[in-house]
Amino acid sequence: MLKGKVNVDPQAVARFLRPRTPPLIGVDISTSAVKFVELEDAGKGRYRVERYTIEPLPRDAVVDGSVVNLDQVADAFKRGWKKLSTRVRNVALALPAASVITKRISVPAGQREDELELQVETEANQYIPFALEEVNLDFQVLGPSADNPDDVEILIAASRKEKIEDRVAAAESAGLKAVVMDVESYATQAAFALISAGLPDSGFDQTIAIVDVGTSVMNVNILRNGESVYLREQPFGGFQLTQEIQRHFGLTLEEAEIAKKNGGLPENYETEVLQPFMDNLALEVARVLQFFYTSTQYSSVDRILLAGGCAAIAGLDETVGRRTQVPTAIANPFAAMELSSKIRPRQLEVDAPSLMVACGLAMRRFDPS
Ligand SMILES: Nc1ncnc2c1ncn2[C@@H]1O[C@H](COP(=O)(O)OP(=O)(O)OP(=O)(O)O)[C@@H](O)[C@H]1O
Ligand SMILES: [Mg+2]
Repeated sequence: MLKGKVNVDPQAVARFLRPRTPPLIGVDISTSAVKFVELEDAGKGRYRVERYTIEPLPRDAVVDGSVVNLDQVADAFKRGWKKLSTRVRNVALALPAASVITKRISVPAGQREDELELQVETEANQYIPFALEEVNLDFQVLGPSADNPDDVEILIAASRKEKIEDRVAAAESAGLKAVVMDVESYATQAAFALISAGLPDSGFDQTIAIVDVGTSVMNVNILRNGESVYLREQPFGGFQLTQEIQRHFGLTLEEAEIAKKNGGLPENYETEVLQPFMDNLALEVARVLQFFYTSTQYSSVDRILLAGGCAAIAGLDETVGRRTQVPTAIANPFAAMELSSKIRPRQLEVDAPSLMVACGLAMRRFDPS
């Protein structure tokens, strides 16, 4: 394992499906694609990126983190896994944080597993807004309680069964087995632990905002010493830019999406479309920081790390940094890793920010069991 000062507590991660059976591949089922990452232990505390694939999804196959068209997601799963050309069939999947309810409780230490289960169920009954038959429930003992040495603290996680079942079904249709069901925000945190090792002082005692701008949502996860202190999801993403390009230049959405990534748009694109989008994005980040300051004890952020596909927009880090007055950089969880000969370094650098979740999931392979 990496020995940074900041470490995400691997215990603080809920899993709906146990036991875990390494080796496994991390798979992020997101709005634009099914993304696969396979990591290997390269020895001497280093990891190696063995394989990765980003298999595009048709529009509206996944909406707001929910699988809407299972057949399309299953097909992308099959195609992606084939392209990956690995033998590993175990996968770690994740649910969006918004579909998971988590709660920490304290219970007396020294209970048997079945006693604990009963207590977790009783507790869950009180705060979960739907019938227990409809949810998957999991819990993890975090360790001794800070308030009372005779108690242990437990993290309970619950999600509606169908959210989990759709994802598991997509994997199964490709002949794969879901051995871990994680939460996307935890996976982002695990990937961040890799980045923090390379920060000044390993990021110790710094307040760091990971801003993941994908297709339809902006996920902001503010961390301190590996713990999430604030989580917020804003309806803002790259699809807005695609739509703007479509309108402005009279293209189809598909043409707009291609032009956005590959270039070839008229000269006025940058000033009339791209820069306004970047300014809006930066404003959105500044707003989230304001929410953060007003609703917590914190009054500053030391660093912003941009992730998600939109982080590939040249100059976005500058625009966000200027607007928020917070030093801003692009997240690359693979920066300190070795690369297998199959990986093209340039392409990985472009894709890396959008692979935070898939990378964090791939890291589950190295969890102590
Ligand atoms: N080079 C690029 N320039 C501009 N935008 C890009 C570039 N590459 C990708 N994008 C945009 O990033 C978005 C996809 O990002 P990402 O892969 O992080 O989204 P996602 O994880 O599928 O979506 P979500 O997190 O919302 O579910 C798309 O809107 C895409 O057009
Ligand atoms: Mg995403």
